[in-house]
Amino acid sequence: MQAWVIGNWKQNPATNHDVNALLNDLLAVTDAQADTTPVTSRFQLMVAPSCIHLAAVSARLKGSTIQCAAQDISQHSASTGAYTGDCSAQQVADAGATWTILGHSERRQYHKESHDTLIKKLTHAFAKNLGVVFCIGETQTQYDDQQTLNVINDQLSVLKDLLTQQPELLLSLSERLIVAYEPVWAIGTGKVPTVEEVSKTHQYIKQTIASFAKTVDNMTVLYGGSVNASNADSFAADAMIDGALVGGASLKAESFLAIANAF
Ligand code: G3P
Repeated sequence: MQAWVIGNWKQNPATNHDVNALLNDLLAVTDAQADTTPVTSRFQLMVAPSCIHLAAVSARLKGSTIQCAAQDISQHSASTGAYTGDCSAQQVADAGATWTILGHSERRQYHKESHDTLIKKLTHAFAKNLGVVFCIGETQTQYDDQQTLNVINDQLSVLKDLLTQQPELLLSLSERLIVAYEPVWAIGTGKVPTVEEVSKTHQYIKQTIASFAKTVDNMTVLYGGSVNASNADSFAADAMIDGALVGGASLKAESFLAIANAF
């Protein structure tokens, strides 16, 4: 299975100038490698810029080996309408994104995204042919209370309910969905679970999805949370970890590509 290494830029960089500098650094390496080494043979790269930079970034990445994702889409089905601050799945797709992240813990925390909201967002994304990087993960308290697998099970019920409503999605689910396991307590903190813990959780995620999506026996599951150039090797070595969703370390081409090269 080809690994995915995805950079979630969050609300970064602050200026167009810095976005261009990051893209220049990334493309200087990946374009050069594409001529000599098939960079995409082992891993697939994707970046998720903020909505304001989405169109420019996706235009710049056209023809490169790097795919472009949105960080979120509107919960409303309409492509246009009176939804101040929202970007619809249609607008995101028109801006050139082929994927969107959904359910990131920062959206769940700051925007109170619920089970029903996420079902709507998944529905709209798939309807506009966007792939989805679906994020799940437990908080520090839930981890301390050994509730990780219960929390994961609950968060995965969004996918189960979606498939009950739209069983036709099953046909292409493994190509259109990536799950990212991101323990909330590991995001931006420098703290990481052990590789064994991540591996066990990923195995549980794959088994749970296979239990309600019979055609999907090996869902792609990425790890996210303080992944950096020094610890990427250890995650990459585990067969249950199919890549990484990277925040802070994706804002420098050197560290992002070092993580990718670990896979
Ligand atoms: O989505 C990526 C993420 O939340 C992890 O962030 O900065 O810990 O790599 P970071």
